[in-house]
Amino acid sequence: MSVGMEALDQDHRKLIDMILRLEAARSNDRAALREILDSLIAYAEYHFFREESVMEACGYPDVETHRAIHRQFAERVYGWHADDLDGDPVARDSVLDYLKDWLRHHILLEDMDYRPHVVDCLEAHQAAAAFGSLDPDADRPVPNPLRA
Ligand SMILES: [Fe+2]
Repeated sequence: MSVGMEALDQDHRKLIDMILRLEAARSNDRAALREILDSLIAYAEYHFFREESVMEACGYPDVETHRAIHRQFAERVYGWHADDLDGDPVARDSVLDYLKDWLRHHILLEDMDYRPHVVDCLEAHQAAAAFGSLDPDADRPVPNPLRA
């Protein structure tokens, strides 16, 4: 599944990888879980801004609707983020399931809507490349597809 832009596909792969790590750490202690959750939220926030910048650059007509979807997610997750995740196993599982389901649904379905608008848009690719990378595992910036 591709949204038509390698930099955003790379973000999505990173987010899916973080979800899998979160899933694997489900029964770990609070500190381990929180560390992964903090990284996931930080990366999602970075990615949302990059994606919105890309949509704006190519004049995607539904950018405000898409932005509102991102903000709704962020507001909900920040509320959970402030809570203790290991106090109640049912609440913790509910948080993890929501994150997993929302991100998968969003990446696989909702993000696909902008694909036809960004895939051949030079300004959109330039906007994506301008963000560089927040990936702590990356030893170089996100590649610019226009220079590849
Ligand atoms: Fe999105």
